[in-house]
Amino acid sequence: MSSTTQATPIPLSRKPAGRSASGAKTACIRTFGCQMNVHDSDRMRRMIQDAGYAEVQRYEDADLVILNTCYVRENAVDRVKGHLGELNRLRREGRVKKVALTGCIGAAEESAALQRTYDIDLVLGTHNTYELAEFVGLPTMRETYTPELPGTEGEHNAFVTIMTGCNYQCSYCIVPSVRGRMICRPMESVTREVKNLVAGGTGYVTLLGQTVDAWRHEGRRFCDLLEAVSEIAPRVWFTTSHPSNMEERTLRAIGERDTIVKRLHLPVQSGSDRMLKVMHRGYKAERYRRKIEVFREATPDGTLSTDIIVGHPGETEEDHEQTLRLVEDCAFDSAYIFKFSPRRGTEAATLPGTVPDAVVQRRFLEVLRQVEQNAFLRNQRKVGEVEEIYIRHGSTEDGKAIGETWSGHAVHVNTGAAPGNYVKARIESAGPHVLYARIMN
Ligand code: 5AD
Ligand code: SF4
Repeated sequence: MSSTTQATPIPLSRKPAGRSASGAKTACIRTFGCQMNVHDSDRMRRMIQDAGYAEVQRYEDADLVILNTCYVRENAVDRVKGHLGELNRLRREGRVKKVALTGCIGAAEESAALQRTYDIDLVLGTHNTYELAEFVGLPTMRETYTPELPGTEGEHNAFVTIMTGCNYQCSYCIVPSVRGRMICRPMESVTREVKNLVAGGTGYVTLLGQTVDAWRHEGRRFCDLLEAVSEIAPRVWFTTSHPSNMEERTLRAIGERDTIVKRLHLPVQSGSDRMLKVMHRGYKAERYRRKIEVFREATPDGTLSTDIIVGHPGETEEDHEQTLRLVEDCAFDSAYIFKFSPRRGTEAATLPGTVPDAVVQRRFLEVLRQVEQNAFLRNQRKVGEVEEIYIRHGSTEDGKAIGETWSGHAVHVNTGAAPGNYVKARIESAGPHVLYARIMN
């Protein structure tokens, strides 16, 4: 199952070193994890470019390598360790000169041990990424690279951070301790950035934050901000939301506003009230179900996705059954399913009732099967429909581009259209994860 919080798999190539054609200093940024990290990487990219670095894709071509990391699950740390080991080897061979570790692992306690073991030159958390500016030789720091500034100007598709941190204390989650408490960005600052982006050619804006729907500022709430942005940008989406903050008004706005992509990502984590309480999620399964009913009624053709954790300490067979039941009732179009991973410093890491690996694996597959069955059936219903598709990634050698419908479905389509354009195509077939469409002549 793919995940918004998983790193893009990056092969560690062993080809001979090469430098940028101009002989300039070179840097390579690898991003692991969620959209917040993608956005932070964009900001760091601007810093290295301003400092005169040419960006390269391979470690062995880079003077400076920046690993912008995720700490949400244990395997994320293991993966980063693999990259650090490879970088040590390249450094010994004189190919890579400096290594920086940034993002959520950088903000965690564990980073000190990693710095010693792997001899990392710079470790930055999520609150002080601006210090990278100084490291790469730029004179100004904090003022120049605050989150106020656009990270992706001029791109067809941009992420705009509207809030950072999180005020929840979910039992299993490391985010509040590495990202801090919620800070909401003023509405005018967001709308100004969106206006600039749109003027610069951006056609798709995603509002970002750990709990975007908790955004509030000077009496205004998330729905006010979403509506304002939906009047400026031609295409808008937002992620991630928290069920306790999701208002009916927002659910209705998704259905009513033409420029909002009709896709809701609303992490539920579990279908069992008992587990939701242990996790400190702040809602019961019934309240979640009711919100989904409103969404489905307001947006019958929309798509719904969620996050689910299997094997949280203390999860019983009965809890698991209730999750399966909720998955069936909500008929998710997709779900990111996670096996519980104990994160040091979280409450869940100290709780009794560890679920054996084999049980976690079985439950994982049962939830996955249930999600995929529903998703496949729902996707089948789209076959034959003609859709306006936004191209996200241009075509590869097989001539297929990857796009997105207004309902939020991912589509493979046979077009040479560049990212940022729209094409009209007929859905010809469907799998559990994507639709396959053919351009209309
Ligand atoms: N173990 C497993 N999954 C986790 N998530 C967050 N922390 C953990 C953890 N310790 C999942 C949650 C969250 C998503 C981003 O990652 O489902 O919504
Ligand atoms: Fe983590 Fe819970 Fe905050 Fe989401 S709402 S970031 S799961 S603490």
